[in-house]
Amino acid sequence: MLNKITVVGAGNVGATTAQRLAEKQLARAVVLVDVIEGVPQGKGLDQWQSAPIEGFDTRVVGSNDYGPAQGSELFVVTAGIARKPGMSRDDLVRTNADIVKQVSEQVKKASPQAIVIVVSNPLDVMCWVTKQVTGFPRERVIGMAGVLDTARYRAFLAEALDVAVEDIQAMVLGGHGDTMVPLVSYTTVSGIPVGQLLDDATLKAIVDRTRNGGAEIVQYLKTGSAYYAPSAAAAQMVEAIVLDKKRMLPCAAWLEGEYGLSGMYCGVPCKLGRRGLEQIVTVQLTSQEAADLRKSAEAVKQTMGAVKL
Ligand code: NAI
Ligand code: 2OP
Repeated sequence: MLNKITVVGAGNVGATTAQRLAEKQLARAVVLVDVIEGVPQGKGLDQWQSAPIEGFDTRVVGSNDYGPAQGSELFVVTAGIARKPGMSRDDLVRTNADIVKQVSEQVKKASPQAIVIVVSNPLDVMCWVTKQVTGFPRERVIGMAGVLDTARYRAFLAEALDVAVEDIQAMVLGGHGDTMVPLVSYTTVSGIPVGQLLDDATLKAIVDRTRNGGAEIVQYLKTGSAYYAPSAAAAQMVEAIVLDKKRMLPCAAWLEGEYGLSGMYCGVPCKLGRRGLEQIVTVQLTSQEAADLRKSAEAVKQTMGAVKL
């Protein structure tokens, strides 16, 4: 258990993440920080009052400044604006870059040794902004997207096959956008290659639905984007780090030549443990998957071009 985890942004993803972290008792205290007066305080108090019922002892507190966040070992950054219908993740880039810059400066001041998990969109670019502004090494700035995209892919596969989700092993790599790369060649159902269980047309439809997974939820909600699965994904990454689990999860990592890519964040298989990003695992891809990953990385680079640091 850590002493303190701070979640920045007390909106849908941030508040739900804080609640999940508290319920899992991953720290003695979870601090919620947001710019809207009263919101982090009210949500923090409400969550803390659920502790006697849910049986956790993690104290949840809210604040509009970073005083209570001082000394946090881990931050989850969800501050920003969410996608609206018809808006791409990249439309968010300029507004959220300014927000994430401000947040990163505060994170660095409050806890220069912290690990940061970035959630704000466009994800891969916001990770880069965080790394640049904090000056933290790549081991301590990691992005959440692949865990969510993979969960969606696994859920759709489990539904199509009518099997338990826990029996589906898969990874979605690439940038968090329409160009993401579900690795069909490594998708198995209890070790059986998925291609032996589903025909190509069904698999293609599932891959397309996964790529469109965030937009599908936005179309339903109309006034915001997904947060139950995103908060579960962020909490799983926090848990892997806090409990030093050495889990291999698809995360956005700063690349220095891995997969032929460098100078950018992109989703790749990562080992997460108490030191944060402990290893980027390089696996062989089919020529199509490698080409798709390059295309996805290109899309991230293009969006980076819109941000002036
Ligand atoms: P939301 O609008 O419910 O919450 C965002 C919160 O950030 C608001 O409460 C707002 O007041 C706060 N905020 C704005 N500027 C701030 C600042 N300077 N400091 C602290 N807080 C600030 O949005 P939601 O649904 O929680 O999404 C948050 C972000 O996460 C969005 O950028 C969204 O696109 C992204 N997201 C990313 C996912 C991923 O897979 N990486 C999945 C889901 C959402
Ligand atoms: C999602 O994939 C909006 O990026 C967010 O749901």
